[in-house]
Amino acid sequence: MKVTYYGHSCFLVNLGDKSILFDPFISPNPLATNIDINSIKTDYILISHGHEDHLADAVTIAKKTNAKVLSNYEIISWIQNKGVKKAHPLNHGGKIELEFGYVKFVNAVHSSVLPDGSYGGNPGGFIIKSNKNCFYYAGDTALTYDMKLIGNLYNIDLAFLPIGDNFTMDIDDAVICSNFIKCNKIIGMHYDTFKLIEINKENAKKSFLNIGKSIDLFNIGETKAY
Ligand code: NI
Ligand code: MN
Repeated sequence: MKVTYYGHSCFLVNLGDKSILFDPFISPNPLATNIDINSIKTDYILISHGHEDHLADAVTIAKKTNAKVLSNYEIISWIQNKGVKKAHPLNHGGKIELEFGYVKFVNAVHSSVLPDGSYGGNPGGFIIKSNKNCFYYAGDTALTYDMKLIGNLYNIDLAFLPIGDNFTMDIDDAVICSNFIKCNKIIGMHYDTFKLIEINKENAKKSFLNIGKSIDLFNIGETKAY
């Protein structure tokens, strides 16, 4: 699989001939001015929760690409009211079979109001299982014992974890999370975009190296193969 970073918690994951865009927040992100959202092609858009910094560009990109949007029921209703035709609601514990495998909506400990103040349902994360890969996109979340369940039920080979502190886990909690989910390969997200979530990237990398694991911190626009 190939992973491209568009800043904050937004990644494009290519699985063979299908791609998934997670939590698009690009045009309002001052760090992502080098990214043109019109150049992004995707088959699916997955939204972890209702906050602006996770869905600001979702409606625009969904309409432009004709991608199908997956999120919780309340966010899907909101997106459909804005004219997005292809959308599918999930709730915690539920999964949907797609061409490449399945997507499951799992717990996150956070909040989820939508940008206009309407109710955004409950926040979540995603497990994506294909015939080749199994990865976890945590969304915005605190460290929680629910992550142990993920480690017990799945062979997670890659995990996208928030590390910016203040609104989510910090790097130390992300290290514990990586142990709970039994995963050695981590991609960091939700850091440096705002003053409140600025981190020391070298220290973050050391925290994972110290326990024999690795965390990748992408440059915005960068693509890596896994
Ligand atoms: Ni949030
Ligand atoms: Mn956020």
